[in-house]
Formats: sequence, C-alpha cells, structure tokens
Amino acid sequence: MPPRPTDLPAPDRTMPDGAAILERQRERESAARTYSRSFPIVPARAKGMTIVDTEGRRYLDCLSGAGTLALGHNHPVVLEAVQRTVGSGAPLHVLDLATPEKDEFTDALFATLPGDFADKARIHFCGPAGTDAVEAALKLMQTATGRRGVLGFTGAYHGMTAGALAASGGVGAKNPVPGIAADVTRLPFPYSYRCPFGVGGERGAQLSATYVERLLADPNGGVVPPAAMILEAVQGEGGAVPAPDGWLREMRRITAERGVPLIVDEVQTGVGRTGAFWAVEHSGIVPDAMVMSKAIGGSLPLAVIVYHEDYNEWLPGAHTGTFRGNTLAMATGTATLRYVAREGLVERAGAVGARMTERLEALRSELPVIGDVRGRGLMIGVELVDAEAEPDACGARPFAPELAAQIRDACLDRGLIVELGGRHDSTVRLLPPLVITDEQVEAVLDRLTDAIAAVTATHFRGVVA
Ligand SMILES: Cc1ncc(COP(=O)(O)O)c(C=O)c1O
Repeated sequence: MPPRPTDLPAPDRTMPDGAAILERQRERESAARTYSRSFPIVPARAKGMTIVDTEGRRYLDCLSGAGTLALGHNHPVVLEAVQRTVGSGAPLHVLDLATPEKDEFTDALFATLPGDFADKARIHFCGPAGTDAVEAALKLMQTATGRRGVLGFTGAYHGMTAGALAASGGVGAKNPVPGIAADVTRLPFPYSYRCPFGVGGERGAQLSATYVERLLADPNGGVVPPAAMILEAVQGEGGAVPAPDGWLREMRRITAERGVPLIVDEVQTGVGRTGAFWAVEHSGIVPDAMVMSKAIGGSLPLAVIVYHEDYNEWLPGAHTGTFRGNTLAMATGTATLRYVAREGLVERAGAVGARMTERLEALRSELPVIGDVRGRGLMIGVELVDAEAEPDACGARPFAPELAAQIRDACLDRGLIVELGGRHDSTVRLLPPLVITDEQVEAVLDRLTDAIAAVTATHFRGVVA
C-alpha cells in the first residue's frame, strides 16, 4: 500500500452518499461524459497522488486530471497561492486587464522558455481550455499568412472545438460532425509500433519526413500552401507516442524552408512532464508558436499561446473571450512553474519515468499481452494486444480494447486510477504527478502488474504460464 498522507482527512459520516450522487449524475449529465464512465467513484478528498472517495476508498491517481496536476492534488504551494491571493483582496476577474498576478505569471512562464524563443516571444491569454488556445494559434497563423489550410498528423489530439477537432486524428469524434475535417491535410506521425509505412523505428520516421517533404514540394500533390503545421512532440491522447528528435528537427527544417509556421501543442507535454520543461527542448527545435494549458495553471484553468513576434498580426479583439485571465489560476500557475523549476522536478520526471518504463519493458517479456511500452518522462503508454493473434510485418499484434478496459477496471479495484488512450483505446496511459514518491512508483507498478496478470490469466489461459 502507498504511504497514507497523515494530513488527508478520511471521509466521515457527514459525507454525502456516493452511490446517489453517481445515480443523479447518470440521470442529469450529457451522454458525452467520459471519465466518469470509466471511473464510477466520487472523489471527496485528495492530497498529492491520493484520492479518497465518499466511501473512504483510497486511490493512487495516475491520471492527474489528464496530465494537468504536475504537483498532484492540493499541493501546499498551490494552496498557499490560493489563500494568499484570496486574502489579498485582488480582483478575481478583470477580463484581460493587467494585474500584478498576470505580470508575475508572464515573468514566470517566460523564464521557463528556451532562450531563443523567449527573446522574441509574445503571449496571448486565451479562454481557459487547451482547445481555445489551439484555435487561437491556428487563427493567428491564418491571419499572419493569409492562408487557410492546416497540416495535421495521424493520432493527433488538439481538442474538441471545430478547428482543434479538425486538426485531430480521431475519426470517431469527427465522423458525426459533417464537414469538420475540411482544410486539414493529414500526414503520417512516426508511430513506431504501428508504423504507417509498415517498417517502424528510425526508418519509419525517415519515410514520414520524406513523404511530408515530397508532398509539400509536389506541384500536383494537392496541398495548397498551408497556414501552419501543428504537432505534439509526444502524442498524449494518441497513446503516449513520442516523435523521434531527428524527425522533429526535419519537420522544423521542412516547414522553415517552405515558410510554413510550426505550432507545437505543448498542452499535455509542458511543465516538465517529459523530462524537459517543454518537450521541444529534447530536439532543440524552436517553433513559431507553442500552445500551453493544463499544468501551467497549477490545477486551475488557464491557457495561452506564446509565439514569435513576427506573427503578431492580429487586430485588437481578434481572439477575445470573457475568461482570459483568471487571477487565481495565474497565482497558482506562477507558484507551480517556479516550484517545478526550483525543486528539480523536470529532471526527476525524466529519471523516474525512465525507471518506470524500464520496469514495464521488462514486464513485456513476461506478459505477451503487452505489445509496446513507450513514452517520455512521466508520460508513459502500455499498449495491450491480442497475444494469441499473429503479428504483422512490424511485429505488432492486433489491438485489444476489451482487455485494456478490463485492466483499467482491475486497476481501479486495486486502488489505481489509470486511463486508456491511443487507437481503439488499447493503451494504458500513466500520467502520475511529477512529485510521485519512490514508494508510490513501486505501488503503481505492482498494482498495474497485478491487474494485467489477473485479467490476462482469466482471458488468455495457456498464453501465460
Ligand atoms: C495535446 C493536447 N492539446 C489540446 C488539448 C485540449 O485541451 P482541453 O481539453 O483543455 O481543451 C489536449 C487535451 O487533452 C491535449 O492533450
């Protein structure tokens, strides 16, 4: 069992009835609700990596608000920032007016950026969701270039509003919305395990780069000069698929040579999660714009774009919105950014992530339902496959979505919250907070291993000894 935080009060008899809350949720909320279907629990208290539900059950949270909670739940520096700001009498909402909190947040954020990007960067505060920041980045580049089309990748996830959804790869979400995919040219992301070219590894990534370069250069290729390319350095919802650094450098070279602005969506990868403060730092590329949300708000909603001043072509009011500068989120964001940098959590995410990935890789040789283990830092994917089926030319076996869902449920039974992602929701994704302790690492791996072994033993008797 993980260590029990002593300052996490257990729910008592005054707790509302969790089952009744879940029932009311099912009756009243939209059919589009998601995580609450996967995790039929009612969190009542949380501290660090631990959630306690209304029934008093404890869970280790490896979902972290879909990668939002860099410092876990209710970290002292976050709570202190909330209390200090509320106590100071600062206005909690003043549209996009300048405030000391916003000024400080901008300083703190710029201090984390790669130097050659920060020197000439502009920031725009967006509506408080990653998807609005993606819309802003696409619109900015469309305005600046006078072009319309977007280059997007297979497996990408950029959000649920029209432009972000169009740039995303998931067919299931786009299919019911007629016309949503207009003006996006889909390019092959170097997903090594299921290589779009059927070869995998470095060779697959090289083929992807060659394809992109030749397509854009081909006068009969059908792609009119686009407004932007948008990509994730590590695809998050796509199943924790990291792009090789060399491939990212190729994308930077190709877009720069053709005058196509490069937008890197760091909504999930940012604030140390991949073992670099920003994932672009691994490859050393300098994008034209970065999209940021999730962890930058230190648990509260905040989203911005940061871009090269050359693209500062908007007219006043070009991307407005009422909630663009939540004082509390800027205070908690500042506290989080500074704490992550000061406490060496970026390096820790890299080291702990490598250790976890190594352990999971070892497990792969014991449990053939694990087809692939991948990721970067504390953004880890474990892809489940049908171990009894024949592998394809790349060595990949078919997806195992039912098995993956059973494993997620078995993890929950064992007090571990993990969500699925990737193609057919067949990848278990691990997104623990950067402050995960060594004991918690062990507990996460033990529970996951136990869950996989238990589900596998039931469903694939004969495959596992
Ligand atoms: C890479 C990436 N971009 C954009 C988004 C959209 O962010 P939001 O859900 O806050 O709209 C997400 C959300 O998971 C994401 O992972």
